[in-house]
Amino acid sequence: MDKLIISGGYPLSGEIRISGAKNAALPILAATLLADGPVTVGNIPHLHDITTTMELLGRMGVSLIVDERMNIEVDPTTIRELFAPYDLVKTMRASILVLGPLLSRFGEAVVSLPGGCAIGSRPVNLHIEGLSKMGADIRVEGGYIHARAKRLHGARLVMDLVTVTGTENLMMAATLAKGTTIIENAAREPEVVDLANCLNAMGGNVTGAGSATIVVEGVDNLRGTHYDVLPDRIESGTYLVAAAITGGKIKIKDTRPWMLDAVTEKLRETGADMEVGDTWISLDMHERRPQAVNITTSPYPAFPTDMQAQFTALNAVSEGTAMISETVFENRFMHVHELQRMGADIRLQGNTAFTRGVGRLTGAPVMATDLRASASLVLAGLVAEGDTVVDRIYHIDRGYESIEEKLAKLGARIRRVPG
Ligand code: EPZ
Repeated sequence: MDKLIISGGYPLSGEIRISGAKNAALPILAATLLADGPVTVGNIPHLHDITTTMELLGRMGVSLIVDERMNIEVDPTTIRELFAPYDLVKTMRASILVLGPLLSRFGEAVVSLPGGCAIGSRPVNLHIEGLSKMGADIRVEGGYIHARAKRLHGARLVMDLVTVTGTENLMMAATLAKGTTIIENAAREPEVVDLANCLNAMGGNVTGAGSATIVVEGVDNLRGTHYDVLPDRIESGTYLVAAAITGGKIKIKDTRPWMLDAVTEKLRETGADMEVGDTWISLDMHERRPQAVNITTSPYPAFPTDMQAQFTALNAVSEGTAMISETVFENRFMHVHELQRMGADIRLQGNTAFTRGVGRLTGAPVMATDLRASASLVLAGLVAEGDTVVDRIYHIDRGYESIEEKLAKLGARIRRVPG
């Protein structure tokens, strides 16, 4: 397995471009199954999860053409199988996103239950309940979801919990259902809005995305189109924290600042000087030590759970003590144990991490456990004394395009060692 070796102590400086958002690209690639012609999706990040999604669609018989700029043309009209196998779904839970489109467009789907992952049990009961309310006949057997529906019908769905992919699955299913679907307590993430914009570009009729109430008027068919996914707000936040933790000064380009206001505000609280343009954000830490900040994760537009691990690493070397509460997932502090091995002073109590900043971390061999935890270990390595070796970095490759190239461009001493 590849490893990343990082020699810490170099403040980052320079400019990098932000890639397309993984969590927008995944639902949008699933949405192509709804069309009656080819859909071309642009600004796709070069990530392992994208490759997995392409393999999943390919196994169904969908035709895929990828160009050198990572535009993917998906032609769903050649589909042969309405089946998402366990061996693929277990490597990428977001595969569940084909369930709604397959059921709505073709009237049936057999999709493996995703199972849990390092950060939690990750149930999909709300996806299933919503589709059942829209008229689907769903049996869960042998680890698979067996779903059938002559034609889904609209329904008023009041979501028990805010679920991002649950909202996305049901919104996609509703586009070809008969009648009107209202999703209450919907997720408001920018990636949900991006998906809605893509569905509307395909001829769908989705309104209210970005608010807690989404209304979908079913149509008879959706057509092919070209759609570019929006930039990745979590990648944006991760690189800004990389600059803050090393006391550096960077500018991130091709992003959408409004998508990460909660993160930018927290970075200002650490003492970072931030400037924001239409498509860029700059951060200057003036080589100062950051101030520790209290964090409580919540659904968008509040502070994102996908940025919690990165701020835990930042707090570990900041001035003062702070509390970080993780309210979205039940086990998203796996990075804390590895940070402690680097000398971090963090105490876990239930879903809260109490951090006390230390003057320095020391480099160590550490192990990645999930995507964002891995990112936090890389961030800690950037500021630790000596070398940090991050193992199992396939977790990182799922969500960060060319992380070592982008960090090296900013002056980090980082290299990938084939494992
Ligand atoms: C999406 O996961 C993201 N993944 C996650 O990003 C992100 O952390 C998460 O939303 C929260 O923002 C993609 O978009 C592909 P949820 P998702 O359904 O949709 C519970 C990353 O790092 N729940 O919003 O799976 C669930 O257990 C990944 O890029 C149910 O109980 O998350 C959790 O506690 C990690 N039943 C809460 O809701 C359900 O049917 C929120 O989960 C669905 C969810």
